[in-house]
Amino acid sequence: MEARCRWPGWQDKLCSAEEASALIEDGMTVGMSGFTRAGEAKEVPRALAERAALDPFSITLMTGASLGNDLDKLLTDANVLSRRMPFQVDATLRRAINDGRVMFIDQHLSETVELLRNRQLAELDVAVVEACAITEEGGIVPTTSVGNSASYAILADKVIIELNLDSPAEMEGLHDIYIPQMRPTRPPIPVVAPDSRIGTPYIPIDPEKIAAIVVTRGKDSPSTVLPPDADTRHIADHLIRFFSDEVSAGRLAPSLLPLQAGIGTMANAVMSGLAEGPFEHLTMYSEVLQDSTFDLLDAGKLDFASGCSITLSEACGERVWSNLDAYRDRLILRPQELSNHPGIVRRLGIIAVNTALEVDIYGNVNSTHVGGTRMMNGIGGSGDFARNAQLSVFVTKSVAKGGDLSSVVPFVSHVDHTEHDVDVLVTEHGLADLRGLAPRERAERVIEQCADPLYRPALRRYFEEACRRGGHTPHCLEQALSWHIAVERDGHMRSLQEEGVEAVGA
Ligand code: COA
Repeated sequence: MEARCRWPGWQDKLCSAEEASALIEDGMTVGMSGFTRAGEAKEVPRALAERAALDPFSITLMTGASLGNDLDKLLTDANVLSRRMPFQVDATLRRAINDGRVMFIDQHLSETVELLRNRQLAELDVAVVEACAITEEGGIVPTTSVGNSASYAILADKVIIELNLDSPAEMEGLHDIYIPQMRPTRPPIPVVAPDSRIGTPYIPIDPEKIAAIVVTRGKDSPSTVLPPDADTRHIADHLIRFFSDEVSAGRLAPSLLPLQAGIGTMANAVMSGLAEGPFEHLTMYSEVLQDSTFDLLDAGKLDFASGCSITLSEACGERVWSNLDAYRDRLILRPQELSNHPGIVRRLGIIAVNTALEVDIYGNVNSTHVGGTRMMNGIGGSGDFARNAQLSVFVTKSVAKGGDLSSVVPFVSHVDHTEHDVDVLVTEHGLADLRGLAPRERAERVIEQCADPLYRPALRRYFEEACRRGGHTPHCLEQALSWHIAVERDGHMRSLQEEGVEAVGA
């Protein structure tokens, strides 16, 4: 305990999670650690849910991204959440958001603390941060994620620290905490490479604000990503071929450029596929470091990885956490404001690989809304990267729900990334390089390279009719959303498949 908690006077602040949770009152705005199920404060939110079951109250909850250990579910079931931002992945919370019971603010993940700092969001009353150590000066050493924890702790009136004795003590030294200065006199942020260290290995706060220290135990939830399948392998193969061609054409070096990979099964599988590619000395400047990062480090393909959280499967976690010394010189965890910083993404020339729910024939991408209305997870950092990357790639399987839905549609039902921010689209069928193409050229490539062959005829028919009507970006407006309307009506898009096949035969 003394090695973990070196700040003199910590004993006076020790209390139970229940006592600490009493600092959080009805109507308050609370910032908690936690990013993609990594490094969340574990006991205080649980105590909040238990208290609310007896004595109802609600708060605005901000985190880095999603919470693990079912905390979003527990808090939703106890009606603790009136407002939630900026990201989530929990099925119960998702239902409450889509029923209109929780007001969810879906934000670019680099922006939340910037808005907070500039007082464009309600001011923070309390921050709750998981730590693996507290320094002599009261600095907080985070655990498996930095997320927004640093700015939350700096901006909140009071700070509750959950000191997790099960978190690896060897994490100390991994983090790099840098807080951009206030505008309008902010100097450039001096990250010039993925391994640039520009800050402190702890969150510097005024120790006067430490209101409670809760000693906890417990692990992060393992990641839920599924192993690669035949389709994701094909997607990875298309991308590897594309990157190889870029190297041959002299547009990329064999070490490519710093890589960013989105969350989820698809992006993880694609990055794992790079282990088999001809590339060497890769680097990552990403948001979440998933299993694929450690696969690439272990394969000797990846030299360095910078992120804001580490989210691993059970098996990969066992390999990494018990052997952290083997990795620590090749890793940095930063605040998400820095890992996703648009200026740094542009400066480093990142290759961004994110996942779409659906794409349209012109290259607009929907990453968030099923059927145009129902929130899935949130935009996360995909927009931070896609807009500013040197190469912005979106991957998706060409169909969803066993082929009931085409992921390539005439017009996406919700737009997260506009055609202007999308360079390359990849499905298991092929890769559409859209750089330098006009909308009519883009549509042909997306339909022929990316759509499932069963849906291609109907897409061609739509596009041909739209072109007859004219326009820079041709559309048949009364039909543009008809594929989504078919899903509302029939639960699938298969009627379009049949129509298209008949049309071709006719
Ligand atoms: N219509 C409806 N549902 C669809 C769909 C579509 N066109 N395409 C996929 N889905 C469903 C899948 O069926 C699956 O549903 P299930 O959970 O009920 O099985 C779910 O979406 C996830 O799809 P999956 O193929 O497993 O992909 P994934 O795990 O890679 O997640 C996203 C894909 C888009 C949901 C996920 O990447 C995401 O939330 N992205 C936005 C945030 C982001 O990009 N962050 C990265 C920034 S660094």
